[in-house]
Amino acid sequence: GKKVLLFGDIGIDDTVALIYASLNKEVEIVGIVADYGNVSREDAVSNIHYLTKVFDYPNFIPIIHGADVPLTGEQPAFYPEIHGEHGLGPIIPNDDQEFELENFFEIVKVIENYKNDLVIVNIGRLTSLATMFILYRELMNNIEEYYIMGGAFGVPGNVTTVAEANFYGDPIAVNIVLTYANNVTIIPLNATQKAIVTPGMVDYIDQFGKTKILKSLMEYYTRFYQERDPSLQGAPVHDVVTLMAVIHPEMFTFKSYPISIVLDLGSPARGQSIVENHHSNTQKSNKNKTHRIAFDLNYNVFFQHFLSVMIG
Ligand code: BDR
Ligand code: CA
Repeated sequence: GKKVLLFGDIGIDDTVALIYASLNKEVEIVGIVADYGNVSREDAVSNIHYLTKVFDYPNFIPIIHGADVPLTGEQPAFYPEIHGEHGLGPIIPNDDQEFELENFFEIVKVIENYKNDLVIVNIGRLTSLATMFILYRELMNNIEEYYIMGGAFGVPGNVTTVAEANFYGDPIAVNIVLTYANNVTIIPLNATQKAIVTPGMVDYIDQFGKTKILKSLMEYYTRFYQERDPSLQGAPVHDVVTLMAVIHPEMFTFKSYPISIVLDLGSPARGQSIVENHHSNTQKSNKNKTHRIAFDLNYNVFFQHFLSVMIG
C-alpha cells in the first residue's frame, strides 16, 4: 500500500484514522510522529503505543518524539472536553508500558529509507513538519506528496469563527510549510465537516468486532458535538478523511490556489487561512506557489468507503 509517515496529535479522530489504517491494506503507515495538539505530546506518544498493542500494528513502526510546544512560543491549550483526559475519550491507557521512544532524528532514517516512495500526512499542528523544513529542507524534496488536515476557506472555523484548530494552534508553522513544501493537498473543514459519523453507523460497524474501541471513542466525541449543536446527527471525523484523500482523491472536489495565513497571534483572525488574491494584506507565504485544496467531499462515496473498510 501507499507508504505514509503520519504526524498526529493523537486525539479521537486521529485514532479513527489509525484504526482505519490498521484495517486498510491500501495504506501502510511506516512511522508516526507524536505531537502536542489535542493532548500533550506525552499523551500522544502513550496513545500511539497503546493503539499499536490494541490493533497489533507491526511493532517495528517507529513512534517518533515530535513537538511539545508551538513555534509561537506559547503554552499549548488542550481539549479534554472533546478528546478526553488523555485523548482516547474515556480510555486511560495504562502507562506502565515499556517502549522506547525514537528521538526526532529517527525521522531522517524513515525518509531516507522510503526516499521518493513516501507520502506525509499531517493530522495535527504543523510544528514538527515545519521543523523538518527548518532543519532538513533539501531532504524534504524526497517526499512525494503532503496531505494536511487544516484550515477553513470561507466557512466557519472550529476554534474561532474563522480559524481551524490545526492552523490556529501554530500559524507560524503553517506559514513555513506552505512556503517550502511542494505537492501539498489541504483537506480543510470545507470537506471534513461533511464527514459526519452517526451513532447508528458506529453501532453497525461495532458488531463486526474489528474496531474494538471505536464505539467508546465515538460516544465520547459525539456527545461533545451534539451538546454543542443538537441538530448534528453525529460528529465529523476530520483526520480519517485526510488519510483517505491519499488513496481516494475521487471523494473530493479540488481547486488550487495560493494560500496565506494570518500570523498576528493577538488578532481575532489569527490562523485564518485565506485563498490568496492580490488585495489581501495577510502574510504572503509565497506569492505564486499554489496548493491543492479540497473544497467539497462526496458524502456517499466517503460513507461507503468508510463502512467497507471499518467492517473489516
Ligand atoms: C483538527 O484538530 C484536531 O482537533 C482534530 O484532531 C483535527 O486534526 C480539526 O480541526
Ligand atoms: Ca488531529
